[in-house]
Amino acid sequence: MGQKIKFNYKDKEYEFPLIQGTEGEVGIDIKTLRSETGLITLDPGYKNTGSCISSITYLDGENGILRYRGYDIDDLANNSSFIEVSYLLIFGEMPSSNELNKFENDIRKECLVHEDITSILKSFPHGAHPMGVLASLTSALISFNPGSVDVNSEEKMYHAIVQLIAKFSVLTAWVHRKVRGLPLNYSDNSLPYVENLAQMMFKNPNEEYRSNPVITSALNKLLILHADHEQNCSTSTVRIVGSSEAGLFASISAGISALWGRLHGGANQAVIEMLEMIKRDGGDASKFMEKAKDKNHSFRLMGFGHRVYKNFDPRAKIIKKTADGILKDLGIEDPILDIAKNLEQEALNDKYFVDRKLYPNVDFYSGIIYRALEIPTEMFTVMFALGRLPGWIAQWREMRLNKEPIGRPRQIYNGSISRNTKSKG
Ligand code: SDX
Repeated sequence: MGQKIKFNYKDKEYEFPLIQGTEGEVGIDIKTLRSETGLITLDPGYKNTGSCISSITYLDGENGILRYRGYDIDDLANNSSFIEVSYLLIFGEMPSSNELNKFENDIRKECLVHEDITSILKSFPHGAHPMGVLASLTSALISFNPGSVDVNSEEKMYHAIVQLIAKFSVLTAWVHRKVRGLPLNYSDNSLPYVENLAQMMFKNPNEEYRSNPVITSALNKLLILHADHEQNCSTSTVRIVGSSEAGLFASISAGISALWGRLHGGANQAVIEMLEMIKRDGGDASKFMEKAKDKNHSFRLMGFGHRVYKNFDPRAKIIKKTADGILKDLGIEDPILDIAKNLEQEALNDKYFVDRKLYPNVDFYSGIIYRALEIPTEMFTVMFALGRLPGWIAQWREMRLNKEPIGRPRQIYNGSISRNTKSKG
């Protein structure tokens, strides 16, 4: 691009290069700002700040576009498997059939989790939030797979990646079984990844288990839709933790904790809790709309709004359509879906939401589908974490291969100036 931006400070002119991405977005490269000018920038929440150059995922918030490695999310959600998309995100290209077979087999080889993990799982009290259990068990995996920490070669990194993709599905299923007080199932390596996940989650010892294509297709699509989303809160957490050379499993465990927050991945649980509250209150959403608009009230319309999308979240559109289909295929009538649709219509016609470009996001309808699959509400964000796993891994791997420096933002200090204990007045 070669263009530069200039500004004057203290009677001196400075210029900094402009950098342009392949989709045309432009940034100011301020890598030398402090050393040249003594200035830093201030940007709480990093609303205007790029943390890295990445080739993994592209979002166009104004036009509601989401692409993984250039492939549109709608294309991938309708035509690919979650493991194919995981390979695409992590290694940059769609796998050939040989590459896909090798990747799937390498994952199958790692689908056993050390039996002592079940003791750690069982030591959690009933009612422990599944996201806290998942983050803990992901960290615990390090002790049983110490070779996953110093992955200073691509071969070691690849091995840690397939280990984590394999074992994370087992942990997801076991956390689900723990929430429901059901016995644990083990991996069945004769099954493809998502079918294997479903049998570990839903198979019961007292009845014959039959894989339901409606359920596995819905899970496959939901996992793909959640797989990556450029530099969101949890992904930025994974990158910054990994930048200290903490291992992959430790970095992902940190990402799980960041995703847990109700403003981020925890919103899918909060949406259903909000819709159930509206249902209990007689189904009239307008009272909740007013609360959501009241600055003196902390209540927000969960599942609405987005830092980047100022148009429809493309994932929400796909999930809404899928929810209708799943409920029909499974013969389920869920009044919560009608409340969600009414709430969406009210918000889309309300000046407060229209002026702020607040649309339904990925979390608004996803819980409707998880409910139809009889997944408990407190498990919804765990399902989001499993979906986001390949994106976190891809972003962590990109940061490491690019040898990015340790993340360490600066600050504007506004605390006490120098003083000493003698100066106590
Ligand atoms: C995810 O970043 C990602 O990519 C995340 C994610 C991913 O895939 O990784 O897409 C997943 O986290 C989706 C978001 C899930 N969270 C929720 O649904 C929680 C509800 N949404 C809000 O908390 C909020 O919209 C955020 C957190 C999502 C975005 O917040 P921002 O970008 O910091 O926006 P803001 O808080 O500055 O809001 C701008 C205005 C404010 O009003 P004013 O001060 O201008 O008068 O919009 C208002 C806000 O009060 N607002 C809302 C609202 N969201 C924003 N008002 C009511 N209800 C809401 N949901």
